[in-house]
Amino acid sequence: MTARPLTSPPLSVQALHPRPHDRLIVTIDGPAGTGKSTVARDLARRLGVDFLDTGAMYRAATALALDARADLDDAFAIADLVRAADLTFRWQDDPPTLLARGRSIMHRLRDPDVASAVSPVSALAPVREVLVERQRRIGEVHARLVSEGRDQGSVVFFDADVKVYLDAHIKVRAARRADQLRAAGRPADPIAVEREVRERDERDSTRAVGPLVCPHDAHRLDTSDLSQPQVVDRLAEIVHARVGGRAPA
Ligand code: DC
Repeated sequence: MTARPLTSPPLSVQALHPRPHDRLIVTIDGPAGTGKSTVARDLARRLGVDFLDTGAMYRAATALALDARADLDDAFAIADLVRAADLTFRWQDDPPTLLARGRSIMHRLRDPDVASAVSPVSALAPVREVLVERQRRIGEVHARLVSEGRDQGSVVFFDADVKVYLDAHIKVRAARRADQLRAAGRPADPIAVEREVRERDERDSTRAVGPLVCPHDAHRLDTSDLSQPQVVDRLAEIVHARVGGRAPA
């Protein structure tokens, strides 16, 4: 496996793909339970740009590993599986359907076995290397994009036009997570859910590669007391203030 730093795009990419003048890359990072996915999707719709759910790609990598009965500590074997699966999105769907080897993998992304293994799998450097590369390639083809994840503004699109970091109080995030579990018909003990959220935060923000951080040039927004439509309004204002004419009104 070729080692390539994950902090900047390869020089060949910079040289071959000069920034298109109408490029609009908006990154939205932050921990689970901030309402990131929904608001990122709504913001993309409002701006009329594509939406990239990078959490779905890490979930797909985890599903591929579990379904192949791979050793979850074997980072290189999992990276090979992910590379071979050729993860792509069907962009005409809303949200875009994630395909592995040309077939939808969406039905696996929220399964409990995937949910419990995704955090350690997403900490594996070779797996991140494959997915970061793929996300950057998507950004070259879909240069008008809202990209949501943990490392989108800090690593993948470190030169994004607008960077946002969403946060919310741990209690609020745990309550939102418990609501999601109940809505899916699963048990949700509030204390256990809060502990799980805390542990995931800790793992995601202390891992060696692509940790969850707030980029120094990101707009930080606390969503604890805001409804999802209020967050989307606020994000649209931030984008317009920052790039004006490049964002549709
Ligand atoms: O946003 P989500 O819950 O779908 O993310 C699933 C997992 O993937 C979560 O543990 C964090 C990880 N992830 C990541 O490490 N980097 C990203 N860019 C997106 C998600």
